[in-house]
Amino acid sequence: MEKLEVEGGIRLQGEVTISGAKNAALPIMVASILNSGESIIHNVPSLRDIATMGSLLSRLGVGFQKEGDKVSLHTGNINSIEAPYDLVKTMRASVLVLGPLLARMGRAKVSLPGGCAIGARPINLHIMGLKKMGAEVTLSEGYIEASAKRLKGAQIYFDIPTVTGTENLMMAAVLAEGETVLENSACEPEVVDLANALISMGARIEGAGTSYIRINGVASLKPLEYRIISDRIETATFMLASAITGGSVAIKGGRPENVEPVIMKLRETGIDIIQEEGKIVVNGRQRPLSVDIKTMPYPGFPTDMQAQFMALMAVSDGTSFITENIFENRFMHVAEMKRMGADIRVEGSTATVRGVETLTGAPVMATDLRASVSLVLAGLAAQGKTVIDRLYHLDRGYEKIEDKLIPLGARVRRFK
Ligand code: EPU
Repeated sequence: MEKLEVEGGIRLQGEVTISGAKNAALPIMVASILNSGESIIHNVPSLRDIATMGSLLSRLGVGFQKEGDKVSLHTGNINSIEAPYDLVKTMRASVLVLGPLLARMGRAKVSLPGGCAIGARPINLHIMGLKKMGAEVTLSEGYIEASAKRLKGAQIYFDIPTVTGTENLMMAAVLAEGETVLENSACEPEVVDLANALISMGARIEGAGTSYIRINGVASLKPLEYRIISDRIETATFMLASAITGGSVAIKGGRPENVEPVIMKLRETGIDIIQEEGKIVVNGRQRPLSVDIKTMPYPGFPTDMQAQFMALMAVSDGTSFITENIFENRFMHVAEMKRMGADIRVEGSTATVRGVETLTGAPVMATDLRASVSLVLAGLAAQGKTVIDRLYHLDRGYEKIEDKLIPLGARVRRFK
């Protein structure tokens, strides 16, 4: 199993370019199955999750090719309607095929994802919405089986704004008969990017980016040619890498408007952030001040940045309260950070982080994608060497992280 060795204590300096957004690329790749031509997607990052989605689409009969950051999808010959357990268990985003398969093929069979490292993560709201649109949905032997001759527009209210739930139902609704309204829908930039991609295929969608989305079904869609937005979580992660090392890094290609809560919170810690044309420059300081964060759906502070921000607070000057409101078990990184000398206590959904002067390198274990990168950040700030095990978690969501960190001066090394 691959590991990453990080030698800490070096101020990062230089420029880094952000890749395309994983969580936008995944649903947009799936959206291609809503038509039967050849779709092209640009700026797709080279990640394990993208490869997994490629495998899933291939199993459905899609011709999938990736060359550099360009993905081609031939969707003329869908010959399976099944997302099997072995793929769904490695990547929950596989459930995104449910809505589009149902819309295009009238049937879908998708393994029900189990719980995962960060929480129970049910998909009851996806199913509720499809039922409202007239689908018959049954659960048997761990699989959700859904069928509908043609889905019908419906008024759907989400108890909780769900990102992939909103995406699944948006993709189901674009080919449905009549109007669908999604209320209390997720407002994340990845939802907007999917809506823009669907609109470029001829879909009629209004209100994406707000909590009220209206979709008018059309009879057919044309193939997709689209460029994915940059990854806001990768952008914010590199902002934190600069901050935690007291460095000075210019982040190119990230959209500041999509990382506003992280910029605001970093400024509260005393870190200097300059927004220039096409760049976000983050100048760290000796010891950041401690601030509190509460994760919230967009435009609140992203849960996908909670672990990375905790690494920064672990070396801050003061005490910080970090509250996780989205997932019930997203503090798996705490035990690992404690092994590096962090002073953190968790009670319910809040972690109390008392900043220490310095962390020390230690062998640690990655438990999920964002937890693993938070340990890389902690390692960059620590004295001595940190070795992060189970690196496959990191590779799911960060494109060649060492190739991006080394030019900034970091001493990192991947080994088996
Ligand atoms: N929820 C339900 N029922 C549902 C759906 C969601 O109760 O039917 C709950 C979840 O359990 C959670 C909350 O609603 O408590 C929000 O979950 P959401 O559905 O929005 O999460 P998701 O769509 O499964 C996406 C991202 C995650 C990111 C979350 C929150 C993708 C592929 N994944 O997950 O990204 O953390 O939104 O922003 O878009 C990551 O990239 O590391 C990652 C985990």
